[in-house]
Amino acid sequence: MPITLETPPVADLDRVVAELGQWQREGSSMQLHPGDLGWFWRHGATATAAALRTWRRDGRLVAVGLLDGDDLLRMTLAPDATDDDELAARVAADVSTVAAGVLPAGTAYLEAPATARVRTTLLEVGWQVDAPWTALRRDLADPVPDTGLRVEVVTSSRVGDWTGVVASAFGSSRPAEERWHAMAAGTPYAGARSLVGYDGDVPVAAATVWSAGPGRPGLLEPLGVHADHRGRGHGTSISVAAAAALRELGCSSALVNTPSANVAAVATYEAAGFVRSSETTDRRRDA
Ligand SMILES: CC(C)(COP(=O)(O)OP(=O)(O)OC[C@H]1O[C@@H](n2cnc3c(N)ncnc32)[C@H](O)[C@@H]1OP(=O)(O)O)[C@@H](O)C(=O)NCCC(=O)NCCS
Repeated sequence: MPITLETPPVADLDRVVAELGQWQREGSSMQLHPGDLGWFWRHGATATAAALRTWRRDGRLVAVGLLDGDDLLRMTLAPDATDDDELAARVAADVSTVAAGVLPAGTAYLEAPATARVRTTLLEVGWQVDAPWTALRRDLADPVPDTGLRVEVVTSSRVGDWTGVVASAFGSSRPAEERWHAMAAGTPYAGARSLVGYDGDVPVAAATVWSAGPGRPGLLEPLGVHADHRGRGHGTSISVAAAAALRELGCSSALVNTPSANVAAVATYEAAGFVRSSETTDRRRDA
């Protein structure tokens, strides 16, 4: 059956988010979660649609990629299509061919689930192994204990606290509060919460958590501690609070992905009861 590639129109975004949510299951490695689209939504719905690439077979969605920056495609595949040779070959051809409109010429990167056939196919057509990522998971069957950090859910009155911490944590200029509002207006945010942790009255830690529906794994993205307040356990506490929020949202587990080189993040999630579930490597093409 023919496989088609498209950049979905904005009108199709909700459908893609819903279908991607259905793919999130315990035990399957997923590189892309509705929360990833939700986090990207801070750039607006039009930009989110423009950054998406979808592959359909006979009309059915079988793979979704998000262009995160100019040269990185983060993708995932329908659970029953992860080891599909024909789809792997088609995706590999599309991401290797500049004219297909997925990745630009020159160096480019692709992230796909650890079990995805396309990762092997890309090596066969000349792509290279690139940086490793660590996936961590915290089971949510049991109640999550309180850590003592005062954590508040972001409402419009706390947006500045959240954006201030996130900007400091990631070393960016202070993100406009409009970005948070754009994110919160996105479809995936219906199953999300933004959290701020306070030391006294000072906002020190922030996170956003994303559900893909009850009984499915939820995602932490982003999470950070203000640069002036690190090394005091706040990263651990906000990670635990994020897991607790996902449990309240009915998620079966809390997931997070981080570059393996980010040893502080890996140590923080482990201190918060997350367990390393897999390490996977990006794929890179150099020409
Ligand atoms: C990662 C981050 C959240 C940690 O916050 P923090 O408040 O300093 O973390 P904590 O004080 O709770 O420390 C938790 C654990 O990580 C360890 N850790 C923290 N920073 C570390 C570093 N730079 N190198 C090695 N270990 C580190 C601590 O020793 C502690 O381990 P322990 O429990 O075994 O003693 C913070 O550094 C940050 O915001 N980084 C930038 C944003 C980021 O990378 N976010 C995660 C991306 S997914």
